[in-house]
Amino acid sequence: MTAPRRMIVGVSGATGVVYAIRLLEVLRELGIESHLVISKPGEMTLAYETDLTSRDLRAMADVNYAIGDVGAAISSGSFRTMGMVVAPCSMRTVGEIAACTSSNLLTRAADVCLKERRRLVLMVRETPLHTGHLKAMLAATEAGAIMFPPVPAFYARPQSLSDMVDHSIARVLDLFDIDAGLIDRWSGTSSASSCPERVTSLGGSKA
Ligand SMILES: Cc1cc2nc3c(=O)[nH]c(=O)nc-3n(C[C@H](O)[C@H](O)[C@H](O)COP(=O)(O)O)c2cc1C
Repeated sequence: MTAPRRMIVGVSGATGVVYAIRLLEVLRELGIESHLVISKPGEMTLAYETDLTSRDLRAMADVNYAIGDVGAAISSGSFRTMGMVVAPCSMRTVGEIAACTSSNLLTRAADVCLKERRRLVLMVRETPLHTGHLKAMLAATEAGAIMFPPVPAFYARPQSLSDMVDHSIARVLDLFDIDAGLIDRWSGTSSASSCPERVTSLGGSKA
């Protein structure tokens, strides 16, 4: 049984809503159906960080849900998806996912992805991190989530913020075996070309 080309995008109240915007654009370009849920603090950061309204962001997705609608399609494992990306993911949301408490539709949808053994990628964003943050990230990882802090890769020689954002979104989509064609892929340094284990491809180990 193949999963439908349908992905859930959660937007929580960490800084970096630009990652959700770019992800929604790319999913549309790729013909992948996007299902969007935004927390109230996510709407706040959208207003602080961009000129977009919540309605503008919602218009970028194929399907939208209210954060309190815990009976929505994405709250059930019988609604099949490729998985979910939380972009960006606040520490409150990662803590709730780790504790399985699911107080809203975003964390419920994430919990459903974990129980159905579907991909759940959390673009966690906070710095510095205290023990509680780290323990929550460990617990979520042990439950099957992937922690993906959106940190830039400088070896890619980014020329702009947009390059940095694209690099992170491309690597997030790699985790779903989707090549968005957004980045030049690492094929080894000249000095390392004789060391095949350092040559990477899609799904390889290069950070
Ligand atoms: C402008 C702004 C930036 C924030 N950035 C972060 C952040 O980077 N990481 C984080 O964990 N919380 C951040 N917060 C705090 C969260 O929004 C807050 O903890 C909220 O309760 C998270 O709720 P949510 O997970 O339901 O979206 C920020 C808040 C604001 C207003």
